[in-house]
Amino acid sequence: MSEAPTTETPPPGLDTAAPLLEFRTVDASYGPFRALFDVSLAVRPGAVTALLGANGAGKTTVARVATGLVRPTKGEVWFDGGRIDTLRPYRIARAGMVHAPEGRSVFASLTVRENLELGFRRDLGASGVNAALDRAYELFPRMGERSKQIAGTLSGGEQRMLSLARVMVHPPKLLVADELSLGLAPIVVDEVYRNLAAIRDAGTAILLVEQYVGHALAIADDVVVLTHGSVAYSGPATDLDDIAQYLL
Ligand SMILES: Nc1ncnc2c1ncn2[C@@H]1O[C@H](COP(=O)(O)OP(=O)(O)OP(=O)(O)O)[C@@H](O)[C@H]1O
Ligand SMILES: [Mg+2]
Repeated sequence: MSEAPTTETPPPGLDTAAPLLEFRTVDASYGPFRALFDVSLAVRPGAVTALLGANGAGKTTVARVATGLVRPTKGEVWFDGGRIDTLRPYRIARAGMVHAPEGRSVFASLTVRENLELGFRRDLGASGVNAALDRAYELFPRMGERSKQIAGTLSGGEQRMLSLARVMVHPPKLLVADELSLGLAPIVVDEVYRNLAAIRDAGTAILLVEQYVGHALAIADDVVVLTHGSVAYSGPATDLDDIAQYLL
């Protein structure tokens, strides 16, 4: 008889390619408060993994651990073939992971153009800035119209577009998007999700943190549901009955 395989058989629907991002039995705490318990999850290259769960379930904490803002107290985090749980956030960003944090993530006192320029200068160097600006305005004409507007005075949806414009011009390997749709009108949410699909189509994997399930499931390949800091479900986005029982 042949030896037992040393790796687990992947769940149906998941391919066997190495994950782009992987949590291995991660715990994380804020001081004495433990927020994540033995969390294991994976984001496949180029795929969208939706991270779902109730308020306080630990979704943002997972995003912070992935991007290096919170250090795990146990377990390992791997990204693109390397271990990252001891790296500083800027090193993780440089390795190709972009974090679109909860809320409005623009520099409120700078103009639209200055916001874009800052990001492009960091990602592409000074010589790449002008071409990148042209591309951003082509993708988001409204940002072109409002290039001189102070970003803090943009509407909520426009501020999300500004964050996404930078990501789209220089697509990262992984976008960690935390509650992009929070507080936006449905029509703007639709637009944000169209942008996410375009980012995914450009080859970027997405870890999509969402409290509202409908849009997330529509774009997701895989789903992880957190309850009280633990993984309650992990698998394909098509097992709606399974997923639903953890979200009620
Ligand atoms: N800086 C912090 N200090 C102490 N506790 C924190 C801190 N940040 C988060 N927590 C706690 O950790 C738990 C998980 O929080 P987290 O922000 O990850 O939840 P979430 O799933 O993103 O929730 P939401 O859907 O409301 O954004 C919560 O109980 C929260 O109160
Ligand atoms: Mg959150």
